[in-house]
Amino acid sequence: MKNLNLIALCTACISLFILSACSGEKGEVVLSVQQEKAMSERLAPAGSVSLTSEVGSAPVAGSGGGSRSGDEVYNSSCKTCHGSGMAGAPKYGAPEQWTARIDKGMDTLYTSAISGFQGMPAKGLCMDCSDGELKAAVDYLIDGSK
Ligand code: HEC
Repeated sequence: MKNLNLIALCTACISLFILSACSGEKGEVVLSVQQEKAMSERLAPAGSVSLTSEVGSAPVAGSGGGSRSGDEVYNSSCKTCHGSGMAGAPKYGAPEQWTARIDKGMDTLYTSAISGFQGMPAKGLCMDCSDGELKAAVDYLIDGSK
């Protein structure tokens, strides 16, 4: 009797296992195809957006340690004007437009970038940039325009 009971139990277990495995598999295949699409179309971009906004807001929350490179700040904030020479901005990569300014000394140029100078808006419109980040952007701008 013991053996018979065991066999009956095992059969029940096995058939249950097979049943659940089969239905589980079917459900998963359908779901995973849909999920993968949904994931790659919606979740992935949403994830990267929240990541970059976290990274972007970090310097604002912090005390301004200059965590963005001059290159990054230039490309996101200064290039609008200095890339094209818009609004009379001295152009990046045009040394003749910079020599007279470079002669004023780097400290003056940093101050112009931080506080503004005539047509140059304060902080180059990068309102969440720290002074360190702005200086790095000036360095990048000058290094590429000598
Ligand atoms: C809205 C356009 C605009 C943006 C954005 C902008 N600039 Fe300027 N910038 C100017 C103009 C115009 C001048 C020339 C000002 C003048 O001499 O009358 C200038 C001049 C400068 C100068 C020379 C200042 C001097 O004392 O001669 C520096 C340095 C500079 N910008 C750095 C930056 C940096 C760094 C950024 C980005 C963080 C930036 N700018 C973003 C328009 C802009």
